[in-house]
Amino acid sequence: MLQDFLIACQDPPLDRVSQQLVEQSISAFSVKNGNIPKWNKALTQIGHLEKSDVKYIDPYVTINIKQKNTYNLNKYLKQLIPWRKGPFQLGDIKIDSEWNGDIKWKRISPHIKSLENRTVLDVGSGNGYFTLRMALSKAKIAIGIDPFLLFNYQFQALRSLMKSPPNAFVLPLRLEQLPDTNVFDSVFSMGVLYHQKDHMNHLRKLKKMLKDDGELILETLIIEDDYEYELVPDGRYARMRNVSIVPSIKTLYSWLTSAGFSTIKLVSVNQTIPEEQRTTPWIGEDSASLIDFLDPNNNNLTIEGYPAPKRAVFICRN
Ligand SMILES: C[S@@+](CC[C@H](N)C(=O)[O-])C[C@H]1O[C@@H](n2cnc3c(N)ncnc32)[C@H](O)[C@@H]1O
Repeated sequence: MLQDFLIACQDPPLDRVSQQLVEQSISAFSVKNGNIPKWNKALTQIGHLEKSDVKYIDPYVTINIKQKNTYNLNKYLKQLIPWRKGPFQLGDIKIDSEWNGDIKWKRISPHIKSLENRTVLDVGSGNGYFTLRMALSKAKIAIGIDPFLLFNYQFQALRSLMKSPPNAFVLPLRLEQLPDTNVFDSVFSMGVLYHQKDHMNHLRKLKKMLKDDGELILETLIIEDDYEYELVPDGRYARMRNVSIVPSIKTLYSWLTSAGFSTIKLVSVNQTIPEEQRTTPWIGEDSASLIDFLDPNNNNLTIEGYPAPKRAVFICRN
């Protein structure tokens, strides 16, 4: 896949950075992780199967695998559990992932500039469900980055089943590792900001990756409050260990202004519902999801007593 990535980045401006990204990716893939032999085996087995066309068939990113191949494929895909992002359909296999990403994409995509012929960065791409949706929306290239190796393996497994893969890639990198290069027309940061120890650093770096006339699409947890306010969870938030800070909408406006954005548009605020985040067989047995993270007597509160997860989408320009 990294070879294909280099070929896809032969033209300016990505040719300036592609070699460095590949070297960083190779080094990220060579860390010690006890699961890698299992994931590599699944990837090799999947790589031997027949390749087919990929397209979006509501709500699935769909690969038209021939029926006879799917018994084994199902076994191999289960080696790559948990499938947090999706959904995907591979022949008769429906990977109904924990998150139904189609709901988010339908919420966001009507508000953004058309991705046709644009160079796109998807920060915190997970297994590339959205990166693929971006590429299938005719982006010139969509580059996802996510340091979590399993998600990179999931993406490679899916890509290896595609006859003519769209111009989408996922690299095992963190945003902070990318060189400051303002080469992207559209930069997405969805579900990532609240995981950052330094939220301003994240926002400033996103801005540095954008062309002068580029567009940032920021989707993140917020507190719906008219005041400047930020929640710093004492311990977990909705059972998540790594939520550093959740701002009010007003606070997020001032963060984005400080990061240098002059046009900031709030286009949606939504409380996360169990149709969008749910337990499914694809996240493993006895796994928990949203409904288990909320107060059983009041679904407007998390189990820790904080306001239940609400997500806002901001479209920002220089
Ligand atoms: C909650 S998931 C969101 C995935 C997807 N963007 C979505 O909206 O559903 C956050 C992802 O961001 C990744 N992530 C966290 N910090 C990151 C960083 N600094 N750079 C790139 N990815 C990051 C995590 O590994 C995780 O897969």
